[in-house]
Amino acid sequence: MGDVTTQAHAVRLQGITKRFPGVVANDDINIEVRPGEIHAIVGENGAGKSTLMKILYGMQRPDEGTIEVNGRVMHFRSPKEAIAAGIGMVHQHFMLADNLTVLENVALGAEPHRGPLLQYGEARERIRELATTYGMPLDPDRLVEELSVGERQRAEIIKVLYRGARILILDEPTAVLVPQEVDELFRNLRELKREGVTVIFISHKLDEVLAIADRITVVRAGKTVKTVNPGDVTARQLAELMVGSELPRPETRASTVTDVVELAVQNVALRGIGDRWILQDIGFEIHRGEVVGIAGVEGNGQAELVQVIMGLRTADQGRISLSGRDITRDSTHERREAGIGYIPEDRQEMGLLLEAPLWENAMLGHQDKAPFSSGPWVNKAGARGRTAEMIEEFRLVTLIVAREMTAKPNLLIASQPTRGIDVGAQAAVWEAIREARRRGMALLLISADLEELIGLSDTLYVIYGGRLVAKLDPNEVTPEELGSYMTGAKGAEGAASAGERDAQPGVRTQVPGAPVQSDPAASEPTGADPDAAAGEDGRP
Ligand SMILES: Nc1ncnc2c1ncn2[C@@H]1O[C@H](COP(=O)(O)OP(=O)(O)O)[C@@H](O)[C@H]1O
Ligand SMILES: [Mg+2]
Repeated sequence: MGDVTTQAHAVRLQGITKRFPGVVANDDINIEVRPGEIHAIVGENGAGKSTLMKILYGMQRPDEGTIEVNGRVMHFRSPKEAIAAGIGMVHQHFMLADNLTVLENVALGAEPHRGPLLQYGEARERIRELATTYGMPLDPDRLVEELSVGERQRAEIIKVLYRGARILILDEPTAVLVPQEVDELFRNLRELKREGVTVIFISHKLDEVLAIADRITVVRAGKTVKTVNPGDVTARQLAELMVGSELPRPETRASTVTDVVELAVQNVALRGIGDRWILQDIGFEIHRGEVVGIAGVEGNGQAELVQVIMGLRTADQGRISLSGRDITRDSTHERREAGIGYIPEDRQEMGLLLEAPLWENAMLGHQDKAPFSSGPWVNKAGARGRTAEMIEEFRLVTLIVAREMTAKPNLLIASQPTRGIDVGAQAAVWEAIREARRRGMALLLISADLEELIGLSDTLYVIYGGRLVAKLDPNEVTPEELGSYMTGAKGAEGAASAGERDAQPGVRTQVPGAPVQSDPAASEPTGADPDAAAGEDGRP
């Protein structure tokens, strides 16, 4: 046992340094976590949070520094040793086997089991016990593939507790959750804390950290910046600690929405396998100078909606027009010519040729126009010149946004434009979107970041089960309310009326209550449809 003074810490990290080729992921990190507290670690993407937690969990060895757990210096060589010391980690990406039950996932590989046979009876009992103690209801005999994201996470947490963890690391646990599930997770974390478990909560979302943490440590570029009490800082101050400078303010928006309809989608439907519909009855308009946001849990048809507008898939019903011209049967190339710009979701695969020089990337999709080409030839000098201009205007990560904007499209479709990029680049993308709006473009924004949707959109729709189930005013809607529509808890009735049949765009037409739809099959999310699922990642 360690002495009394060091026992004041459940975990104490001193001078932790970890270098990877070309990058110092952790640079003299110092953090003290008290027993039974919820200690948040916040920092931008790439700040070194996951690396630090992998070190604490024995997955990686630090180059320098010491780890103390409950007052004892530890040299973990594997997660097994960290688990033996009472540390458990729930990773950013779940590690459960889909085709096994909760029980099998939890019990497999865990000690103790006698002989070659797992003691499933005992394990089941223990899971039930943990579920009750920590207020995390979960049926041990359900298949993991049948669980919601929130339930999977719960299974991961129970798995870790089952192995005897008293110090629980959660790496970006809310990234995959809708607001309701976040609330549920936070209730669970408070319950764990009441039972004396120490929680280390990793996030880059400041409001969450402020809501749940007893203390917060900010890391930036691999270094510890400061440990603060949530009561002593505002979200803004915290964000500034995170990025190390003053933030651009999300300015209040003066409406730039005009009367001119740029994109009109009328009664569009897309058939899946058999008689399933991936999209049904989709109708909405985007005016010049307007940002229309679409919220939805992934796999509810948003990727396919973009594909249909882009011409990557052809609608089975309905009509799409751009600047008053019917483009329903046009090819993707013709649509781009007609003025549709696109910031794809999967930027690594679709947006950029990572091995190619910048100027080649800069002209993708626009290579047959000046100054990128002269006649049939690529004009390298012209392309380089224009690329330099583009980089001047925007940072490297926003090159795609710049590329699309430079073509001055009439309609710009942005799919998850800030997913996986850091706070600084995020601000640049937001600014680019606002600038596009000021210039009178029509914008369609698909995002999983509800704050981003609410902050940037003039009009918000929720897509659920392939239908637009609500049209909301971003000035009034809360993330929680959005979440209710996204999970189908609220809505349904708005489905048919949310689109073009409805009153003036911009007028709030939120529909209270949720009568059942006439066609029960239609209200199932298309994520369950194998065809729709195939399109989930943005590829047709
Ligand atoms: N295994 C690795 N090899 C090389 N570089 C890595 C590795 N793991 C992380 N990094 C780099 O270390 C830095 C910190 O990454 P990470 O700890 O994942 O940050 P965070 O979790 O805060 O987003 C990043 O620059 C990342 O690219
Ligand atoms: Mg991480």
